[in-house]
Amino acid sequence: MQYLQRTIWYTANQTIEVLDQRYLPHQINIIELSSTAQVITAIKDMIVRGAPLIGATAAFGVYFACQETQHQTNKEEYFNQQIENLKNSRPTAVNLFWAINKQLNAISVTKDWYTKTKIAWQTALQIVEDDVKICKQIGEHGLLLLEELARKKKEKKINILTHCNAGRLGCIEWGTATAPIYLAHKQGLQVHVWVDETRPRNQGASLTAWELQQAGIPHTVIADNTGGHLMQHHQVDICIVGTDRATCQGDIANKIGTYLKALAAKDNGIPFYVALPSTSIDWNIKNGLTEIPIEERTPDEVRYITGWNGKKIEKVLLTPADSPALNIGFDVTPARLITGLITERGICQANEESMLALFPEAKK
Ligand code: MRU
Repeated sequence: MQYLQRTIWYTANQTIEVLDQRYLPHQINIIELSSTAQVITAIKDMIVRGAPLIGATAAFGVYFACQETQHQTNKEEYFNQQIENLKNSRPTAVNLFWAINKQLNAISVTKDWYTKTKIAWQTALQIVEDDVKICKQIGEHGLLLLEELARKKKEKKINILTHCNAGRLGCIEWGTATAPIYLAHKQGLQVHVWVDETRPRNQGASLTAWELQQAGIPHTVIADNTGGHLMQHHQVDICIVGTDRATCQGDIANKIGTYLKALAAKDNGIPFYVALPSTSIDWNIKNGLTEIPIEERTPDEVRYITGWNGKKIEKVLLTPADSPALNIGFDVTPARLITGLITERGICQANEESMLALFPEAKK
């Protein structure tokens, strides 16, 4: 039952296996990936998704690219093309670029492709193990916030709102936004999670609800537009979301709709936290609105909806057949709407000074 713990693992043949997230929670399909092309398809088609998991999968993509390059005549040309294709698989999550660059740096110590392959395998495994540790640390820091809320509420239930899936399915284990929730639940705090369904692909309704349900954590799935009403009626104590890319000034990009929740939280005086590993911080950019590349996906993800019809998974048309649709994948929440960032090194404010105090090595 390895898949219940981790989202990606390796086989005896040095290939990897992932949970196919397109069919969750209705079908548990495991897919083996053994080439750069398969890794690229897995990321593009969202078989794997979520910033840290995209990064880890891409790291194995570089490993496969090294392995394939050993058998090519034009080695440099082949390898560079594979890396380019990997980089083009999804644009917003900076973890993808972070993992590829980490791999390129690691393998640059040798010119021998066999040795590069060995190094890339070890580096990919390290990225996976580090992510598990980092997410647990995010959980431990975030737990302090939930404990404080529990004290303030005199041990009554804490209502947390989250958007999309910044859970263990978007990472390797634990998750980012969900890690403090898992630890709080384990510790006996009464937590309840409002799960935004997260149209168009419904990562909240399908993935976050599934992982919380598996962990026995009380939760309620809500339509995306419900959060504001719940906040006005004092039914949300804290919002915790993840991010695909944070700038050095603390703006963050996350699944489309996050910004509206942050606005509603601000209007209602509700703390809005973003949980993130430092691998999701892009220290090279400042302004999220102008500098973060925002993914646009096929309009069909808006026009159709996929679900379980009692017998099998089915895709049905929601809109008039010819209605155009627009599918913007992410939006940017400006730092001024964010109460704090929960990182593996602690909680900081969403501004450069506070972020650099936790990560001084990022100073230029
Ligand atoms: O399009 P997705 O499903 O990859 O988007 C995922 C998110 O927006 C998550 O909130 C983000 O990657 C953080 S995952 C820990």
